[in-house]
Amino acid sequence: MSSRDHWKSKLGFILAAVGSAVGLGNIWKFPYVVGKNGGSAFIFIYLACVILVGIPILVVEIYIGKKSQLNPVGAFRFFQKGKLPFSLIGYAGVLCGIIILSYYSVITGWICHYLMLSFRGFSGTETEISEIFTDLNATPWLNIAWHTFVMVTVVAIIAKGVRNGIERVSKILMPLLGILLLMLVCYAVTLSGMKDAWHFLTYPDFSKVTPGSFLEALGTSFFTLSLGMGAMITYGSYLKGNVNITKSAVQIASVDTLIAFLSGLVIFPIVFSNGLEPSAGPGLIFKTLPVLFSKMPGGHIVSVAFFALVLFAAITSAISLIEVAVSFVVDEYKVSRMKALVIMGTVIWLLGILSAVSSWNVAGTSFLDLFDKIASCYMLPLGGLCTALVFGWAISNEQKKSEIGSSAFSTALLFAAKYISPVLLLLVFLKEIGLF
Ligand code: TRP
Repeated sequence: MSSRDHWKSKLGFILAAVGSAVGLGNIWKFPYVVGKNGGSAFIFIYLACVILVGIPILVVEIYIGKKSQLNPVGAFRFFQKGKLPFSLIGYAGVLCGIIILSYYSVITGWICHYLMLSFRGFSGTETEISEIFTDLNATPWLNIAWHTFVMVTVVAIIAKGVRNGIERVSKILMPLLGILLLMLVCYAVTLSGMKDAWHFLTYPDFSKVTPGSFLEALGTSFFTLSLGMGAMITYGSYLKGNVNITKSAVQIASVDTLIAFLSGLVIFPIVFSNGLEPSAGPGLIFKTLPVLFSKMPGGHIVSVAFFALVLFAAITSAISLIEVAVSFVVDEYKVSRMKALVIMGTVIWLLGILSAVSSWNVAGTSFLDLFDKIASCYMLPLGGLCTALVFGWAISNEQKKSEIGSSAFSTALLFAAKYISPVLLLLVFLKEIGLF
């Protein structure tokens, strides 16, 4: 594997990993899932999931990738012990990435559409603004066109490679996203709904928490941290030399969680100031933010910048999703990166059309919701569980410690990865399939 492309710098790796982690999951999904599950009580559960499961599994994934220097399928084969087919975990990961990107690209397409509308500026009543979203959903050709645009863009960036494509793009876009988000927070705190929003986000009301909330918290934390399907294994495989994996994982998870929380802090004041429903569901950011933009001075410019940056956050995440499949094809079948990209890009594009046509459904559930459910509720936790088991039980302690270190914190993380994370993931999974 001497020809393997590697990150140029540690910071480049962190920013690329943050680029993968920070995406629609933080800005689009997190706020509406919080809204649906009653606010702050859910955030507590979410934080517990990040600490007890997210960070340990992040360490594990980066470790597996760095050590093996391979795509997820090859990486699990690398740690093969006994007769169990470890590589199946890698195959499931590749498939999961394909499924997620197929609908992720459609949602990124919505962002593109809103970006275009922002150039003209949003105006009209709240009802009129929320109708934009309904209309978009009802227009399949427009969704397919944007989905195509997104896939072509992602393929074009990734064609340039790890260092010149992924790393370079992340290094510019991530800091910009942070700055803009902070500016929006500063604006949102001046709104009349800020008090209600703060209350909603920080005073727990556990009566709103259902058993399903735990599942959703774990699934969402996995989703926003890009875990459970080998994305971080793939990014870890482009690392070499001396890197503090534990520290990197904590940094990545902290930035990711902070950005999710800040997105909530931008969105909920607007929701409460305008008497909108916090549990509006997937349309939340598309219906609420444009209302803010239509009212605020200079809103026009801010909305262009905001949707552009959400778009970039989504693109850096989409890149990591397709990179898993591409690195798999390149490593395993020894084809060129370009060929692998065209094949995988086409497969994902075709699958995405199912989600782009919102009227197509399975027993009343749209493909987008169905794929999201399959991937984030079943495949990611199951993938995480298998990854933790392989790490905990098939890799020797000496081997782990040489890479992860033996400080008290590292030891605690190794303990969590071996005992706590798998048990929680298993419980959540069994609950999801209705076993108790
Ligand atoms: N983490 C991204 C987000 O929050 C989405 C994502 C990128 C992802 N790569 C992933 C989710 C791998 C799960 C697995 O939007």
